[in-house]
Amino acid sequence: MSDPMPKSDNITWHHSAITPDDRAKVLGHRGCTLWLTGLSGSGKSTIAVALEHALINRGCLAYRLDGDNIRHGLNSNLGFSADDRKENIRRIGEVAKLFADSGVITISSFISPYQSDRDQVRAIHEQSNLPFLEVFINTPLEICESRDPKGLYKKARAGEIKGFTGIDDPYEAPTNPEIDLKTDELSPDQAADQLIHALVTHRILQPRTQGKDSDS
Ligand code: ADX
Repeated sequence: MSDPMPKSDNITWHHSAITPDDRAKVLGHRGCTLWLTGLSGSGKSTIAVALEHALINRGCLAYRLDGDNIRHGLNSNLGFSADDRKENIRRIGEVAKLFADSGVITISSFISPYQSDRDQVRAIHEQSNLPFLEVFINTPLEICESRDPKGLYKKARAGEIKGFTGIDDPYEAPTNPEIDLKTDELSPDQAADQLIHALVTHRILQPRTQGKDSDS
């Protein structure tokens, strides 16, 4: 992670007059970051889409930050070297923190292969008292490679892509994630249900009243 200190000395933090409780009263839930990490093809984006849909249907404000999408815009100047991946995660961690602070249930889906980078994102959330849940999208490499939705594993095996995560670049599985989703046993909708249940357990969402659904 690059130096978190500002480059200039001549800047001052300006506090808001709005508290997290004020925002929760407007939205009916707290803001947070659900940080989905896993190999390419593990199902991060698919689960994130299912979860965002389920949350919006439930009347919650949810928003996805997706690796491939963010690399089309904010992070279009970054590649896949270790330093660029680090900077990718640093920037998106800061963006996720802002979204969580605004009250949004923020669902990020990035490979985020290095534990130290994920820990740093957790740390900046904790410093601001914002809930951060690390979610391991736990899909074995063999399954990701057999799916190969973008044909990238094939290219990596052929040597056409260098430094591909899981092939010739490391993926450090989370050591202590809040949620470990073994996706070979779950459909995307079942995975989304488990994440909603975790949001209730962590008091980000209220349980639904009896008879409406089963997550209380
Ligand atoms: S991260 O490592 O910096 O967290 P990120 O999630 O933003 O990665 O982007 C991963 C996506 O970029 C993959 O799903 C895949 O589509 C694409 N990609 C292109 N090159 C690589 C590479 N060398 N390693 C991993 N993914 C890559």
